[in-house]
Amino acid sequence: MARRNALERHSMREVSPRGTRLAELARHMLSEFAGLRAGERVLILAETEGAEGVKRAFYRAAREAAGENVSMAIYDRRPAYTHPPEPLPAAVAEADLVICLDIYLSHTKLEQSARAAGTRFFNLHPARFAALRRAVLGVDYREIRRRGRELARLFGAGRRGLITCPRGSHLEFEIDAGREVSIGSGYARKPGDYATLPNGKIKVPVVRASMTGTFVVNGVIIPPINELSELVTLRFNNSRLVDISGGAEAKAYMRFLESFNDPSMYVLDHLTFGFNPRATLSQPPPPAFSSEAEKVMGCVNIGLGRAGLKGKQHTDVVSVGTTVVVDGRPVIIKGRYTI
Ligand SMILES: [Fe+2]
Repeated sequence: MARRNALERHSMREVSPRGTRLAELARHMLSEFAGLRAGERVLILAETEGAEGVKRAFYRAAREAAGENVSMAIYDRRPAYTHPPEPLPAAVAEADLVICLDIYLSHTKLEQSARAAGTRFFNLHPARFAALRRAVLGVDYREIRRRGRELARLFGAGRRGLITCPRGSHLEFEIDAGREVSIGSGYARKPGDYATLPNGKIKVPVVRASMTGTFVVNGVIIPPINELSELVTLRFNNSRLVDISGGAEAKAYMRFLESFNDPSMYVLDHLTFGFNPRATLSQPPPPAFSSEAEKVMGCVNIGLGRAGLKGKQHTDVVSVGTTVVVDGRPVIIKGRYTI
């Protein structure tokens, strides 16, 4: 913990404009990344226990930019990837821009239907000043976009991938040439767009039922564990999680997945690779969690389960220091990109 705090202080000193304030950060993020314009209808969703200063700053910045049709709804924590309480789903569907402060609506039917109708989503995970200043303001997002495009070309042209690590990972997958590699660059400026900040990751489409082998997790399992204190080994067969081994945290993850009594919780949903140079694995205490871990430079993230309004869940497992090879060409060697 002490080391992480020291790293965070170091990052803030090194990369943040001196005197940057939360209000300026909120204004900048809404204009630059969310493309907020006068007259738009904005809904901000926030948790009761979320940082008050962040809530206020984004509300005021949205009012300044958009005008009078800005509302903020605050509600008690719900399981991630579930819909907000009534009557908010209707308001989500009516908004031009939904700003989620530590609220996870991704993967839900509500988000999918609202996006299809033109609502754009701007998700801040974590919605904490220090993290946003470090991994958003402190990062060159033009470079994030450039690297994202380059990686999309590389993975998009590939067919077979292999993930290995010295701890025993050996996981094979096939890339689906019929679907696009999607780049998470943090921008939600067009109708129906979706962005999360901090960002810097790409999603590689995997051929259905093609992922097989062992993946040793050394980073986070979100939810329900957050930062791991021991390794958790996952075994996949045909893109389905068939075995979890390790110590107490492996057992806790197993119990969590079992608790949903839903076979889809074990099925691969997405495979992503992170490339934000300032992102960290750092997590708040459970049950809160932060998706910033999925953007750590050189990390591999496997998402399992399709969440939705009916209460199903979604979990993400992240490992760092892995090697990724596409069609025999190393793309990441022990957590470092080769391009
Ligand atoms: Fe995920």
